[in-house]
Amino acid sequence: MADSRRTANRYALDDKVVLVTGAGSGIGRAIARGFLDNGARVVVTGRRLEPLEATVVGYGPEHTWAVSADVSDAGAVARLIDGVVDRFGRLDVVVSNAAAYRGGELEDLDAGDWHTVFSTNVDGLFHLAQAALPQLEESGGNLVAISSVSGAAGDWGQAAYNASKHAINGLVRSLALDYGDRGVRLNLVAPAFTLTEMTAAMADDEENLAPFVNRIALGRPGEPEDVVGPVLFLASDDARYMTGSIVTVDGGTSASTGQPHV
Ligand SMILES: NC(=O)c1ccc[n+]([C@@H]2O[C@H](COP(=O)([O-])OP(=O)(O)OC[C@H]3O[C@@H](n4cnc5c(N)ncnc54)[C@H](O)[C@@H]3O)[C@@H](O)[C@H]2O)c1
Repeated sequence: MADSRRTANRYALDDKVVLVTGAGSGIGRAIARGFLDNGARVVVTGRRLEPLEATVVGYGPEHTWAVSADVSDAGAVARLIDGVVDRFGRLDVVVSNAAAYRGGELEDLDAGDWHTVFSTNVDGLFHLAQAALPQLEESGGNLVAISSVSGAAGDWGQAAYNASKHAINGLVRSLALDYGDRGVRLNLVAPAFTLTEMTAAMADDEENLAPFVNRIALGRPGEPEDVVGPVLFLASDDARYMTGSIVTVDGGTSASTGQPHV
């Protein structure tokens, strides 16, 4: 496993107040630690407190706050943002990372699957943006949403998840237009196949893993830490002229036309 601390001290994020959703596992946990290693104060949120507390263990309580909230619940998200501002006095960066995945072709999906995916991935970002953007306007801050290469083209057997990632790309790019003259930047990071709980079932043995790895130019699946540097960069002033951008972090997966790797 790569070390999240390799990004330490690269970005001027000292004392910035950062909120990361879905921070109790995988990519969200790595991103939260990356901000902490760069001097930010980080609020980690997700549905269960225990994994969130594990994410920030070892970082001082003055720099962290673990708070449970379900992003699909508008009221909970509004209370979360109020809580962050009460506690730290400001909010500079929001990383919308939480997501739900339900795989399967149309006949395998029911309305409940569709609702879970959309209420988490799309409504969750909408609620977060509505509650947080006034604070980001005040601080001159920015939002980074974790999308996916699945937001740029289709995937076999992933109709609900894929559609949700297309939706958040449109939502973020439209908000980037609306908020440009208000001094708030909004960008997207699009990972591809990355080893986390979300992909655990697909990566459980060499045979399942091989067709994925075969399509990755760099010849290995992503690790959560691979996504951290691009997120820190977008959140920092180094990216001050970037808004509405999609930064792909996919080991070269989408450099291909889609023809097989022979
Ligand atoms: N792993 C991959 O291959 C991959 C590829 C592209 C994009 N992504 C994206 O990266 C992000 C992180 O995913 P991951 O791979 O780390 O998987 P993960 O399952 O480890 O992380 C998702 C997190 O979101 C949380 N979550 C789910 N529903 C929630 C809700 N309603 N409210 C609050 N939190 C909720 C989960 O508890 C979990 O901690 C997601 O946006 C995912 O779509 C992942």
